[in-house]
Amino acid sequence: MVSIKVLSLTLLLFLVNCSDCYHVLLVFNLPGKSLSILGESFVRHLLNAGHEVTYVTPFPMKNKPKNNFHEVDVSEGVDKLFAEICNITFLLENTHFESDEEEIMHLGVEVAEMTLTNPNMLKLLNDKTQKFDVVVGDYLASELVAGIAYYYDCPMIWSYSMGVDSAILKLVHEPTNPSYIPDYISLNIPPMSFKQRVGELWTLIRNTWVKRHSVMPRELAFYKKFYKPLLEKKGKPLPAYEDVMYNASLVLVNSHQASGGLAAIPQSVKLIGGHHINGPVAPLPDDLKEIMDSSTNGVIYFSMGSIWKSASMPITLRDNLVRMFGSLKQTVLWKFEEDIPNLPKNIHTLKWAPQHSILAHENCMLFITHGGLGSSTEALHFGVPIVGVPISFDQFLNINRAVSKGYALSVKLSYNLHNDLKVAIDTIATDPSFKSNAKALSEIYHDRPVKPGVEIPHWVRHVVRTRGAPHLRSPALMVPWYQKTYLDLVALVLLVVLSLFLLVKKLMFTVKSAKVKSN
Ligand SMILES: *[C@@H]1O[C@H](CO)[C@@H](O)[C@H](O)[C@H]1NC(C)=O
Ligand SMILES: *[C@@H]1O[C@H](CO)[C@@H](O)[C@H](O)[C@H]1NC(C)=O
Repeated sequence: MVSIKVLSLTLLLFLVNCSDCYHVLLVFNLPGKSLSILGESFVRHLLNAGHEVTYVTPFPMKNKPKNNFHEVDVSEGVDKLFAEICNITFLLENTHFESDEEEIMHLGVEVAEMTLTNPNMLKLLNDKTQKFDVVVGDYLASELVAGIAYYYDCPMIWSYSMGVDSAILKLVHEPTNPSYIPDYISLNIPPMSFKQRVGELWTLIRNTWVKRHSVMPRELAFYKKFYKPLLEKKGKPLPAYEDVMYNASLVLVNSHQASGGLAAIPQSVKLIGGHHINGPVAPLPDDLKEIMDSSTNGVIYFSMGSIWKSASMPITLRDNLVRMFGSLKQTVLWKFEEDIPNLPKNIHTLKWAPQHSILAHENCMLFITHGGLGSSTEALHFGVPIVGVPISFDQFLNINRAVSKGYALSVKLSYNLHNDLKVAIDTIATDPSFKSNAKALSEIYHDRPVKPGVEIPHWVRHVVRTRGAPHLRSPALMVPWYQKTYLDLVALVLLVVLSLFLLVKKLMFTVKSAKVKSN
């Protein structure tokens, strides 16, 4: 009797629970290791909330979850694409790369094409038993992945790791005003000078043009070739690419108000920055703990994330850095994949670094970083000042924001890096305002009603349950740009003024000639 009751209760609980459980397709296909950290955090939060997750990634997970989890490995050939950005020697010799947005946009398309045509991805798409309730895609410059959501008849959500800027806002709302929201790889911080504002406007116009006339034709060709036969098998027509492009229900942005620079944000954009920093910080390994505990002059943590492959650094620069770090009174923890011979006593290289635990230690006085949004967020989370060495993408903007907030200094990547870093380290070590600013911002960052990790399953569920959350959709998407800018009104006013002018001119001419005649 009792056991039947217990059984039916369990069954009931199970049913209640799973009327809300969905199958989520996570397409985190961008080949950045730091982005895969965010992707794995999505996996974890969604699984914990009881959903089933299929995770498309170029970085197969090391400790794969056992239940409700499927992985689609799309690593084939992808590392070649990013070899250049990961090569410090190449970057030192080709300083143009950082600012070539056309190159970045085409890279985005190339990644999307490679992901979709990957044999494992094709196997998934051609498996008729697969059904998904929602697709979450990581966004960089191309919307090709959004076709998958249409293919599965489900809503599309973008994840975006570069803050809130025109590149992402145009998909769910409209581009923002470039006079106070700079482009994501820009160096400008508002308020901007006349020249800077004109520059930002030009960047926005140029990017729009490049997307439309250089990137989109290529995307369109691929879109037709790839999706048409797939959709035909399901008896569905191929929708216009633009209808798919601008159809996402939501954008989840890895950013937070504390990092600043945010303006009005539409209802379909949610800030979930910091969701990957989970729970209490793991304790340091014993040897590292001993080093950090005994470093009374402070610890400098130096890590260029996954971007800076130490093997790609010129030996002369490496040796100069070692010499400079060796002259400091602080301890230096350097994430570096190789052993360096004859290291000074105060330098320790780490092949693997428990970044959160290091940053959380009270003796950690400085974080030298490339300034990816992941690392920038972590510095904010733990309240540690930064010296940024930005290399590409949004790193310039992240670091510049941190500089304008008074807890960071920016240093250019060059053969003179060791000297520039020394100046920056000395400045931060002697000026306590960097630390107090970092701590104050960290407090703002932590003061929120719910943890960001809670928001992921919440919004995903919300979008599925409301069939694409049309109530969050911005009305701006229905209005053409010339109407939003009132160019039609300007045209009308000009027309009226011109007509009046011509009319007056004509009248005056008639009056004049009438006078001439009567004379
Ligand atoms: C990095 O780039 C340099 C210069 O372009 C090249 O000579 C070198 O082989 C590259 N190293 C790696 C590890 O790819
Ligand atoms: C747009 O999204 C809605 C809601 O998710 C979906 O029903 C519709 O099929 C989508 N249309 C296109 C063209 O992607």
